[in-house]
This record gives sequence, C-alpha cells and structure tokens, in this order.
Amino acid sequence: MIAGEKTILRALEPHDLERCYRWMNDPSIVRTLKSRYPMPFQQEAAWLEHAVVETQCERHFAIERKDDRHHIGNASLHEIDWVSRIALFGMFIGEPSAWNRGFGRDAVQALVKFAFDEMNLHKLRINVFAYNDRARHLLESIGFVEEGRLRAEFFREGAYHDIVILSIFADRPPVEGATS
Ligand SMILES: CC(C)(COP(=O)(O)OP(=O)(O)OC[C@H]1O[C@@H](n2cnc3c(N)ncnc32)[C@H](O)[C@@H]1OP(=O)(O)O)[C@@H](O)C(=O)NCCC(=O)NCCS
Repeated sequence: MIAGEKTILRALEPHDLERCYRWMNDPSIVRTLKSRYPMPFQQEAAWLEHAVVETQCERHFAIERKDDRHHIGNASLHEIDWVSRIALFGMFIGEPSAWNRGFGRDAVQALVKFAFDEMNLHKLRINVFAYNDRARHLLESIGFVEEGRLRAEFFREGAYHDIVILSIFADRPPVEGATS
C-alpha cells in the first residue's frame, strides 16, 4: 500500500465494483471526465476486471481514507512508457461529501511521490477540463504546470471546452514564466 498523511492507495479489488459503478454514473464526477453516456453495470464490471490485473502500461489504485478506511475514490497511471519514464495520470474523489477536506491533495501527493521515488518515472502528465477550477488549483499548488492546451476540444453542456495539459517532473522546477 502507498500511505499518505490522510489517505492510503491500495489495489483495486472486485468488491469495489458497486462504488465504482455509482461514481461513474454521478453527474458531478462524470462532468470532470471524458465519459459522456450512462455507464452500464456490465461495462464497469469489465473495466474493473481488467483494472485489478497488473499490466505493463497501466496501474490502478483505490483511494481510502486513512482514518476510517472508507474507499472514497480511484487513481490511475495510464500509458506508462518505461523507456521515456513518463505516464498519464488520472484520479477522482468519488464521494462529493469528501471533497475539499484535503483527501485529494494528499492522494495526489502520495501517488506523485510513489511514481517518482518507487517507479522511477520522471514525468507525469494529466489532462483537465479548463472549467475544473478545483482540480487545476489543487494540481498547480502541488507543482503541476500547464504545458499546453487543446482548444475547444470537448463539447459538453452546449459549449466547447478547452482541455488543459498539466505536467510535473521529478527533477525539474516549474518552467519560468509558465502559468502556475
Ligand atoms: C479535484 C479533486 C480530486 C480534489 O480533491 P479534494 O479532496 O476535493 O481536494 P482538496 O480538499 O485536497 O483540495 C482542494 C483545493 O481546491 C480548492 N478549491 C475548491 N473549490 C475550488 C474552486 N471552485 N476553484 C478553485 N479552487 C477550489 C480548495 O480550497 C483546496 O485548495 P487549498 O488546499 O489551497 O485550500 C476532487 O474534488 C474530485 O475528485 N473532483 C471530481 C473529479 C475531478 O475533478 N477529477 C479530476 C482530478 S484531476
């Protein structure tokens, strides 16, 4: 397990399915992700079946509160490139009642530390909708820096939205003049 101050990242297990399914059908979570349609139970079950098996280019984690061990969200590293030592990172706190209580910050910090200190990656990248102010604030305050923007990339709620690409390096300070 990967321990932060307030959270623990553990392996996803088959018994996490009900929560994952509920979160993937919660509009407040879905609007921060690229998924668009209601998630069928079978599809989420198939995703979880895949996610519990370690693969070369993906690792998935359940985020638990350290105090009561409740499963409150998920985090993933995708597209892990072991030669360039880079991965795409994604996460969410699926229980809105747990938002703004420091769990997200703690989980991101724990995963970033694990990716750099244990997996020996040198860069993590994350894509965030420009309107996701909470996530951008959190990531930028941890040291992620905007390195690009896909303009008008995603149509949602009747309008086109930019996707912001943020990254963090193991060994480099934020680029001078970057928006952070
Ligand atoms: C984004 C998310 C991971 C943050 O986790 P969290 O546990 O709520 O975050 P924390 O409490 O650790 O920190 C939230 C920070 O954002 C700030 N914040 C909250 N709402 C905000 C807003 N609308 N605009 C800007 N900042 C905001 C808080 O003040 C806090 O900053 P501070 O520590 O400097 O005071 C979580 O809310 C979430 O999963 N949301 C839905 C899914 C999502 O957005 N996923 C994308 C993640 S990249």
